[in-house]
Amino acid sequence: MISKIMEEALNKQVNREYYSAYLYLAMSAWFESVNMKGFSKWMRVQAREEQTHGDKFLEYLMARGGKVYLGAIEAPKAKWASAGKVFEEVYTHEQKVTGMINTLVDLAIREKDHATFEMLQWFVKEQVEEESNASEILARIMTAGDVPGHLFYLDHQLGKRE
Ligand code: FEO
Repeated sequence: MISKIMEEALNKQVNREYYSAYLYLAMSAWFESVNMKGFSKWMRVQAREEQTHGDKFLEYLMARGGKVYLGAIEAPKAKWASAGKVFEEVYTHEQKVTGMINTLVDLAIREKDHATFEMLQWFVKEQVEEESNASEILARIMTAGDVPGHLFYLDHQLGKRE
């Protein structure tokens, strides 16, 4: 059985993971609207990955006999100024998520909840990858700068993500 405080915190994280999926779907739609189909595809795959993160928390809560409360998901914005601005936001967002995961780990330690602590280690590692992917793509966009050919090449590369 999971403690009430841990149950509440994990339910909040379910919502945040689905919000991340929503945010990346909005970014995917914006990329599509400016004809950057590779970036759009990359974001759609990322959105699906966020859904699986939400599912992981959900399944864990149920496995521990916790209650699931599905709250409203905040609406993300729909417009960005450039590909660089999108990835600046992705990078900031992922850093925020890392902070959330760390807070959950702190809580699991305080609650002496070893099972939740163990489950969260997957997310601790995942966040290293999430931040690294976002900062790497941001750096590549910055290097491409105003050269349309370079950005077009990057769009092509990102579109290969499955
Ligand atoms: Fe679910 Fe992008 O972290």
